Amino acid sequence: MILSGSPFSVRDQGSPVPDLTNIRTKYPLLGVCYGAQFLAQLDGGEVLPSQIREYGRANLSEVNSNHPLLKNVNTGSQVWMSHGDTILNLPENFSIIASTHDVKVAGYQISGEETYGIQFHPEVYHSTDGMELLRNFVVNICGCEQSWTPDSFVDTTVDHLKEQLGNDKVVLGLSGGVDSSVAALLLHKAIGKNLYCIFVDNGLLRKNEFEQVLDSYKHMGLNVKGVDAKEQFYAALDGKTDPEDKRKAIGKTFIDVFDQEAHKIQDVKWLGQGTIYPDVIESVSVKGPSATIKSHHNVGGLPDYMKLKVVEPLKSLFKDEVRRVGRSMDMSEHLLGRHPFPGPGLGIRILGDITPERVRILQEVDDIFISGLRNAGLYNEVWQALAVLLPVNSVGVMGDERTYESVVALRAVGSTDGMTADWSHLPYEFLAKVSNDIINKVKGVNRVVYDISSKPPSTIEWE
Ligand code: XMP
Repeated sequence: MILSGSPFSVRDQGSPVPDLTNIRTKYPLLGVCYGAQFLAQLDGGEVLPSQIREYGRANLSEVNSNHPLLKNVNTGSQVWMSHGDTILNLPENFSIIASTHDVKVAGYQISGEETYGIQFHPEVYHSTDGMELLRNFVVNICGCEQSWTPDSFVDTTVDHLKEQLGNDKVVLGLSGGVDSSVAALLLHKAIGKNLYCIFVDNGLLRKNEFEQVLDSYKHMGLNVKGVDAKEQFYAALDGKTDPEDKRKAIGKTFIDVFDQEAHKIQDVKWLGQGTIYPDVIESVSVKGPSATIKSHHNVGGLPDYMKLKVVEPLKSLFKDEVRRVGRSMDMSEHLLGRHPFPGPGLGIRILGDITPERVRILQEVDDIFISGLRNAGLYNEVWQALAVLLPVNSVGVMGDERTYESVVALRAVGSTDGMTADWSHLPYEFLAKVSNDIINKVKGVNRVVYDISSKPPSTIEWE
């Protein structure tokens, strides 16, 4: 059993209090971040707000490498922290097994129990030995087998979908991204022609993306209909600048368009969605409304009147697992390797007003950046790259003329799951060339900046 992190503080009234009566001492138990603080406080330890904010990278300065949880976790190993509280004093029967320079209690075990706590997040990419730690826990301590493979996932999921859906019809919105495409292929394997796919052009896609992606879906044998709804989206976004207002407007318009199209299919009973695990975690707050970070519109956005049941075959997977599943179904590397692209598209990368002209500017900038990455062989080195059009004009000089034009920000990050990320150290020469190309070729832009923030505390998208 793993007790995960939480946006709550253990000191908050109403923070989650798991009942461990039938678990603790009966099964191996690992508390992570909040989970570790919870276990420490439960036995009389002291958890207080940290003196400094502890977000981002840290290194283990002391590690008990003989400890079964920490086998192959080395001193100096990078770990990712994201917490506002810290464990100051441990109860007597707890022993420290790892520390960082700032966090004395980075890991502990409770004597006489297979109960452990760690303050950092082993599940994230940037905890370099995090996978080792989790493997130690799951395989060595819990004695589980590592039997999950993409092939076995495809087999069991397709069987399950066949049983669940029988002869029912399913309608699914494709986005051009990996998630909805893999979900569509799984459903297609299970129910064939009873899957009806709809691909909406919301006017916020990348340059030429609608035509290209539609074409590749048809090649995959999917039954897909493309719908041009650009004007409807622009009208809904008119005058909206707040990120959540934009997401809602885009989400609502998508549902309207989708609903209209879905109604043209007779007797459809199910809605297929490419929801993956991080969408669920970041969109749904476990307790109370406070912790939703961004309301990703592809989660839970279905109006009741559509009366469709939801089928989400990828709901328990992380992005890297989705890619592995797609690969095992022979999906093209071009589609599989595509960087994640948010449902609201360029709508959350155009800060301020969204107009067709500003969409055009960002499409051009994005195209130069992304094709530049591909040409330089850097595209697969980064997890996600994007350009942001800022609501700021800056002064420049072109020829002898003073200009007063838009600023764009470029962002490229490394990650495995989008939950945490670090900015990519792209070569200066590459950045110089891209910046030059953008300013020379895209009318309306006279300045390019590069974003060097990690997540947390920043997010990947700017809105
Ligand atoms: P953030 O900005 O939250 O992004 O660090 C994490 C990942 O989620 C994507 N993202 C979205 N995807 N609808 C989506 O379908 C959204 O509203 C949304 N907002 C962010 C983002 O591109 C990144 O991959």
